[in-house]
This record gives sequence, structure tokens and C-alpha cells, in this order.
Amino acid sequence: MDLKSLIRDIPDFPKPGILFRDITTLLRDPEGLRYTIDFFTEKCIGLGLRADYVVGMESRGFIFGPPLAYKLGAGFIPVRKPGKLPGAVHSIEYELEYGTDCLEMHQDALHPNSRVLIVDDLIATGGTASATAKLVQKIGCELVGFGFIIELQDLQGRQHLPDVPIVSLIEY
Ligand code: PRP
Ligand code: ADE
Repeated sequence: MDLKSLIRDIPDFPKPGILFRDITTLLRDPEGLRYTIDFFTEKCIGLGLRADYVVGMESRGFIFGPPLAYKLGAGFIPVRKPGKLPGAVHSIEYELEYGTDCLEMHQDALHPNSRVLIVDDLIATGGTASATAKLVQKIGCELVGFGFIIELQDLQGRQHLPDVPIVSLIEY
């Protein structure tokens, strides 16, 4: 299936000069959605990525992470923007183009030696995924890989990630 044809390109969103890759048009297509999750699962299994937990980042990692976790027989753990999780959290600050941002995960969500697959809809600069990897590795978990629906290759985000397998379904 031509998944790229289901992604809508919106120029100058959210800022001038950004070509936004909109996944909502893929999500609303029943066959496209099913194919995406099935293909994502097959690629992970094909690479031998056996995970106890899928960790997904707010917001769009919450869309693709849980169905993938379900198919892989794993649990799902949300990584959220600051102040949203009710329990005690581990936090990580990371650099944005201008300034810093922060991500949080419940302290009791993972335990050392858990096998973790990090999933998001898209990798651009790699800042979000790399910060999440640091959070997971700080706890002593085994990071088995990353999964993205979309990879923006020009931004070379994968160069900022640890040396584990990376699954991406659509490349620009
Ligand atoms: C987007 C996307 C990834 C991140 C990728 O999220 O869903 O999480 O940017 O960019 P990076 O590789 O440069 O870190 P965004 O911050 O727009 O938040 P949202 O999912 O809540 O819209
Ligand atoms: N997140 C970061 N860059 C993006 C882009 N170009 N399209 C959609 N989401 C993004």
C-alpha cells in the first residue's frame, strides 16, 4: 500500500518554512490504519525486536504505541510533557532549536532489565527520541530499538540515537 499517499502535507505549519506531515489523513483511512499497524508489527518482529514495554511520547506516540504494544504482546508506557503524570516521575530536559523542553515518565513504570521499544509517529531532529532513550537507559533498561511511522531523513535525527535497530515506514 502507498502509505505516503495517505499523509497530507501542510506547508508553513506550525511556523513559516515547516512542511508539516499530517498523519490524521492516514488515521481516518480504515485500510491505511490497519496496514500501518500490521506492517509496523511485521517489521519489528522481522528485526527480532522483543520488547516487554513500548514507550510512547506525548502526543502522537500515544496513537501508534498502544496498538503496536498490543500486537507485540507488550505493555505501553506513556512519556508525557511536564506536570501531567500523577505519580513520582523521572524527568529529562533536552535541547530544542531555541531553549529547552522536558519529558517525564513514572518512576515505577519500568524496572532495570525491562526490554523497551520506543515508538513515536515521526522523527525529525531526533531530540525527542534521544531524550526518551536517555530516560529509559538511566533506569537501566535494555533499549531494543526505535519505531517511527515517518522519518525526515534530511534532519539526520537517527544520528543522535543510540546504536540499536530503527524501524521507519515512510521516509522523506
Ligand atoms: C513531534 C513528533 C515527535 C517530535 C519529533 O511532536 O510527534 O514527537 O515532534 O521531533 P524531533 O525529532 O525534532 O524531536 P511535537 O513536539 O510536535 O508534539 P505533539 O505530538 O504533541 O504535537
Ligand atoms: N514534528 C517535527 N517536525 C514535523 C513535521 N515536519 N511534520 C509533522 N510533525 C513534525
